[in-house]
Amino acid sequence: MAAPRRKLIAGNWKMNGGLAANDALLRALVAGLAHDGCKVAVCVPAPYLAQVQALCAGTSLELGAQDVSQHDAGAFTGEVCAAMLKEFGVGYCLVGHSERRQYHGETDTLVAEKAKAALAHGITPIVCVGETLAEREAGRTEAVVKRQMAAVIHTNGHCISEIVVAYEPVWAIGTGKTATPEQAQQVHAILRAQLKAATEHSARISILYGGSMNAANASSLLGQADIDGGLVGGASLKAADFLQIIAAAR
Ligand code: 13P
Repeated sequence: MAAPRRKLIAGNWKMNGGLAANDALLRALVAGLAHDGCKVAVCVPAPYLAQVQALCAGTSLELGAQDVSQHDAGAFTGEVCAAMLKEFGVGYCLVGHSERRQYHGETDTLVAEKAKAALAHGITPIVCVGETLAEREAGRTEAVVKRQMAAVIHTNGHCISEIVVAYEPVWAIGTGKTATPEQAQQVHAILRAQLKAATEHSARISILYGGSMNAANASSLLGQADIDGGLVGGASLKAADFLQIIAAAR
């Protein structure tokens, strides 16, 4: 049976943007989106959720956040909980991006709890996994991504079929060094098999590729059997480039 997955292209703006720039970018995106295309989301910095929610209203563009607290509410200065994100119409939330793991010490267990918090509020977590260059060179890619994924599977039980996964090799993020379609497909197949062993509904789970995806390399990556979309950093900040990636996902 064919997998019931429509491709998803998600932009991760990271800590970029501003009121005027967001307005211009989103208007250009909305004007350029095809009606029958893939699913498209933008994961924006928290202060811009209300602005982007308003600009996406009535369009097919979906709203995403970049992080979420594992807690529901309370004395956690600086944190944003899933219920707050939900109030702004957030449909997706990145969890465990390598920049959060690297600069904020997020562990596999914490990432799993964040995914659980998002799911509890009807937000789809985009769970990011990926190996560093040193780990790849040491032949540990499979062990690392499986370990990261196992924690999320363990904590989320049967809800695991509601997540989206993003494979983002750390060495490919913001470096211009994309994984080859074959390298990416190999890891996606490993993750797919792991998810299949965890749930009978694994065919619903989209596995995105992220790491220097751009207008030139998108179609060969997206043509792989187990690559269901992209998580796009730098190229999602330029409307023309992002629209070309979206067009490649049809
Ligand atoms: P780049 O597309 O800029 O390499 O970033 C990828 C990424 O980290 C998306 O989450």
